[in-house]
Amino acid sequence: MLLVSGANGNLARSVISNLLRMTDPDNILVTTRDPASAHARELARQGVTVRHGDFDAPETLGPAFEGATRALLISTYADNSERLRQNLTALEAAKAAGVRHILYTSFLAAGPDALAEHSQRVHWPTEQAIAASGLSYTILRHALYAEILVGDIDDTLATGVLRRCGGSAACTYVAREDLGVSAATVLAGNDHENRILNETMARSYTGNEVADAIARCFGKPVRYETVAAEDWPAYMTDKWGVPPTLAASTIGTMRAIEAGQFDLVADDYRAVTGRSPQTLDEFLAGVRAARG
Ligand SMILES: NC(=O)c1ccc[n+]([C@@H]2O[C@H](COP(=O)([O-])OP(=O)(O)OC[C@H]3O[C@@H](n4cnc5c(N)ncnc54)[C@H](OP(=O)(O)O)[C@@H]3O)[C@@H](O)[C@H]2O)c1
Repeated sequence: MLLVSGANGNLARSVISNLLRMTDPDNILVTTRDPASAHARELARQGVTVRHGDFDAPETLGPAFEGATRALLISTYADNSERLRQNLTALEAAKAAGVRHILYTSFLAAGPDALAEHSQRVHWPTEQAIAASGLSYTILRHALYAEILVGDIDDTLATGVLRRCGGSAACTYVAREDLGVSAATVLAGNDHENRILNETMARSYTGNEVADAIARCFGKPVRYETVAAEDWPAYMTDKWGVPPTLAASTIGTMRAIEAGQFDLVADDYRAVTGRSPQTLDEFLAGVRAARG
């Protein structure tokens, strides 16, 4: 069976809905901390096997993963100090349960010297552990979700100002919905063994270019204003109420954007799915349509 962890998450939902188009429901096994959620119950109604699985509760994972042959382990949103342990627990349980191929959601430019804290402390060592596990694997290194550009779209349109880190550095993004297609394709197929896939839009964008694209799409004036990486955590907390500890953990990611570490475009998405990832304009058009 094909396993997707974290069934109630946004990425997982997209992966599962794509998988349901590619294979029979009885070939799909999903785990979640909350099998009683409306979404989990709906999946079960469709014939998907839904089990309780929590990376913080190792005893749940053996029974949860039983019967899985290929498994997509979706990284959690926990504090970076917790996430490596969670991933290693899940990897060990998957191996013990007989999983033969692991997919893991990593992050663009993960490495020992990555400026992004989660890449350096979580994704890179997880990738290393997976490669050393003896299982075959595919690492999905995701660019920044394009969704992060529009979480405050009402405010951006009302003020005519898009505030983000980066200055003149360009950065690649990718629509989370697209990542659901590619992850499902790799999970349901047998290709891309022992590969690291860099999943990005077909080009990168500076803050000015993102602001121009928003203005073009919504027909309103929008200009870009830089926020320094050091000031970003306070901005997130003041503006969006993000808890200070979580906000502080993003500073490395913002430094990485400023340093151009995400000005990195790859063709892997098209190679996997046979189709181009959405452009920023297409993504924004979808956001506009969804707003009605
Ligand atoms: N590339 C990017 O820009 C970017 C941006 C944000 C996040 N991410 C990463 O990508 C992941 C998926 O993003 P998303 O938008 O789908 O996030 P999300 O909607 O917040 O989902 C969080 C995911 O974490 C799972 N989870 C949380 N705690 C868990 C635990 N103890 N054990 C097992 N699973 C647990 C949840 O599963 P259940 O609730 O079903 O248990 C859910 O699938 C995030 O968790 C994060 O690691 C990447």
